[in-house]
Amino acid sequence: MEKSASSLVELHPIVAQRWSPRSFDEGVALSDEDLTGLLEAARWSPSAGNGQPWRYVVGRKGDALFHRISNSLVPANKIWAEKSSALILVSVLKYRDDGTPRTTAQYDAGLASSLLTVEAHHRGLAVHQIGGFDHDGLAKSLNLDEGLQTIVVLAIGKTAPADLLPNETLRQREVAERTRLPLSDIVLAGAPLAEFSVN
Ligand SMILES: Cc1cc2nc3c(=O)[nH]c(=O)nc-3n(C[C@H](O)[C@H](O)[C@H](O)COP(=O)(O)O)c2cc1C
Repeated sequence: MEKSASSLVELHPIVAQRWSPRSFDEGVALSDEDLTGLLEAARWSPSAGNGQPWRYVVGRKGDALFHRISNSLVPANKIWAEKSSALILVSVLKYRDDGTPRTTAQYDAGLASSLLTVEAHHRGLAVHQIGGFDHDGLAKSLNLDEGLQTIVVLAIGKTAPADLLPNETLRQREVAERTRLPLSDIVLAGAPLAEFSVN
């Protein structure tokens, strides 16, 4: 399904066409090549002072880590995300070696997830970010170091038709138009917005 963004000027197709599906093809496994490509894309993301504070736990469908991550999702997310091919927990290092807080760690991890998402789309995969999970419970179940803060789970896989989703609410959300605030709301000053009309 195409859910292309409407924008004032033409965007790179991956940027325009990326979206967050909930219907994933249950029968698709994530290959080692694709998984490595996604993690490499994240690895090469920029970060403050090249600090690279992101840390990942990767669960692939059928393995124990996938089950642990899946079981931590709130029911409204678990119902669709457990059909994905991989669930990746993104966490960040909270402190530098000298004990001072890494104040940009979440921003850095967001950038890395963004590049991972672009690489996924390029490979014919889709990523849906999930904040709705039991953060403390998952950290405990994975025995995560206390110095790590859990941020999101990334559900990754091949998109499937909307009508395979298990209930009508999800089916409707899947086909709903993607919306955004207009640029004039988010750019406070300095952009030539009036020259363009939405296409
Ligand atoms: C940090 C973060 C947390 C999110 N948490 C959830 C979630 O718990 N459940 C869900 O269905 N979608 C979640 N989303 C997905 C957003 O709802 C989605 O990206 C947004 O509605 C825009 O849709 P689009 O990505 O298709 O353009 C999350 C996205 C982000 C970035």
